Amino acid sequence: MANDDTPRGIADRPDDVIYGELADWWPLLSSAEHYLEEAHAYRALLLDAGDAPLRTVLELGSGGGGNASHLKLDFSMTLVDRAPGMLGVSRALNPECEHVLGDMRTVRLDRMFDAVFVHDAVSYMTSLDDLAAAVRTAFVHCRPGGVALFAPDALRETFRETTNCGGNEDGARALRYLQWLWDPDPTDDTYVADWVCLLREGRAISRTVYERHVFGLFARADWLRILADAGFVARARPFVHSQVEPGSLEVFVARRPR
Ligand SMILES: C[S@@+](CC[C@H](N)C(=O)[O-])C[C@H]1O[C@@H](n2cnc3c(N)ncnc32)[C@H](O)[C@@H]1O
Repeated sequence: MANDDTPRGIADRPDDVIYGELADWWPLLSSAEHYLEEAHAYRALLLDAGDAPLRTVLELGSGGGGNASHLKLDFSMTLVDRAPGMLGVSRALNPECEHVLGDMRTVRLDRMFDAVFVHDAVSYMTSLDDLAAAVRTAFVHCRPGGVALFAPDALRETFRETTNCGGNEDGARALRYLQWLWDPDPTDDTYVADWVCLLREGRAISRTVYERHVFGLFARADWLRILADAGFVARARPFVHSQVEPGSLEVFVARRPR
C-alpha cells in the first residue's frame, strides 16, 4: 500500500500505469529496434555458456517483447510477464511466441528449457528474498547443462545516478519521457526510477504521467551467493554495448550442472 511518505501520484503497485493502462503506448516509449544490439550480445552470451543444443528459451519479465523480437530469430521463445497489457503488446509483435501470464517469483510451467533469460525486469526484485525466488524459478525451468542469463540494470558496486530521455512517434501519437535514476537511501537495497512522460495525440498533449519504479540494488557477492544457493555455477561478466560505458554494467551467466 502507498504510505504517508509516498510521493503524490504513486500507485499501490508502482508500475500500474505505464505497464497497465498505458501499455499500448509502450512501443513509443521503448521501440523493438532499440533492443537490437543488446539482444545480439545476450544471444552470444547464451550460446557461449550453455551445452548445445540451445533451442528453447524462457524469458521471465519479457515486457513488450523487444529483446524477444530479435532472439526469436534463433530460439523458440516462451515469454512470461505479470502485466496482461504488456503481454498484449508482445503478442502483437511476436505472434509466433508462447505468452504466459505469471510472476517470475512464483510461476511454474512444469517443463524445462535450454536457457532462461531475465532481462531488466529482474530489477523489480527489491529484496534478496524476491531475487532468490526469481533465481529459483529460473533454476527449476533450466535443464541440466542449460544456462540462465540475468541482466539487471544496475549493481551496487557500479551504480551511478543518471538521467536519460527518449520517446518515439507513430504518426497520430507521440511520447517523450525523462527518466531519473537515483538512490534516495544508499544504505538500503533499492534505488528508484522517477519517470515523467508526455503523451501527445494529434496536435495536443493529452496526458502527463509521473510514476516511480523501485528497483533492487544488490552487490555482486549477493548475486553470486543467491545463484550458488539455487544450484547454479555462476559468474559475472562485463556487459559490452556501444552505449554502455566500459566496466559500468555486468550480467550474470549461470549454468545448471548436469
Ligand atoms: C521494462 S519492461 C521489460 C522489457 C523487456 N526487457 C523487453 O525486452 O521488451 C519490464 C517488465 O517487467 C515486468 N515485471 C515486473 N515485475 C515482474 C514480476 N515479478 N514477474 C514478471 N514480470 C514482471 C513488468 O510487468 C514489465 O512488463
